[in-house]
Amino acid sequence: MSTNRAPGRTELGFLRVWALAGVGFATIGLGWTFVADSKAADAANKVTVSVYMSTDCPVAMRTAPRLAKLETEWEAKGVEFTAYFPNEGETQRRVADYMRDRKLDFPFRLDVGGSKAKSSGVEIVPTVVVRRGDELLYRGPMDDAKVTEEVKTHYLKDALTAALDGKEPKIKEAEAFGCYLMAGDPIPTMEEVNYAEHTAAIINDNCLVCHRPGEVAPFSLEGYDNARKWSRMIAKVSSERRMPPWLAVEGVGEFSHEMRLTEREIATLAQWAEAGAPSGDLSKAPKAPSFRSVGVSANPTC
Ligand code: HEC
Repeated sequence: MSTNRAPGRTELGFLRVWALAGVGFATIGLGWTFVADSKAADAANKVTVSVYMSTDCPVAMRTAPRLAKLETEWEAKGVEFTAYFPNEGETQRRVADYMRDRKLDFPFRLDVGGSKAKSSGVEIVPTVVVRRGDELLYRGPMDDAKVTEEVKTHYLKDALTAALDGKEPKIKEAEAFGCYLMAGDPIPTMEEVNYAEHTAAIINDNCLVCHRPGEVAPFSLEGYDNARKWSRMIAKVSSERRMPPWLAVEGVGEFSHEMRLTEREIATLAQWAEAGAPSGDLSKAPKAPSFRSVGVSANPTC
């Protein structure tokens, strides 16, 4: 039996596996950089359409079928549509129903206080805003008539055709027609928002009934320190509408003591958490309510 032998099958196999693994990792590394770079390039070149709408403007309703058709056609070519609802009183639920009923099958957002609409120069709904990355390509109506049969110029379609050809649209702006924006008061900006002036009242009125010492909720939200500690969770559970716990489903029946946050309150809580939960001037913060007189007495003779 010879003791000198060439490397056996297993040893070679082992070496090969390591070599392959090395190449594999190198490829993954290159892959990552490539993905990151091309994502950034994609975002800069991406053609997007923001559609500013309202659930009760008749013109928006009439043009919705045309919008649905255009969206389906252009989404397939890589254009990204988002609907924004800036008017006061819109709710997630109402907008979701509206989009579904009109077969508008693309993402939507509430634009509480209309800050996005205003910063995009939108004064009338419906208005469409076409961009390539951050560059504004077209702002105005989708086309030039309320009724489909009367449409002569297809502004949006023309703008998208030009955009995908890498060109500037011939018409960059046209006068929108429909309903004036009714966005209500803006929500406090990142710089303004604070506990004392904006969020203490919302938390006191909607959360402390359970979130105070000795009550059903597992922690207290009384006072700035507690609220600050929980700020990100407060924003999360309120935007997901998990808190306050609904006693009933929205739209089913009327409840006199409905505990539900408004969209403005939810947006304000989110903005505050995002800003890092600033306190503001705590001497001006509303005091936590006294609960002694509230609630149902277990003993009716009391
Ligand atoms: C009717 C009583 C009640 C009200 C009102 C209420 N909560 Fe709660 N909350 C609870 C209870 C009970 C829990 C713990 C059980 C659970 O997780 O569902 C909880 C848990 C939480 C949690 C922990 C996270 C989680 O997912 O469980 C957060 C954050 C929270 N509440 C925030 C709030 C905020 C903010 C408000 C006001 C806008 C609020 N709650 C109003 C009863 C309430």
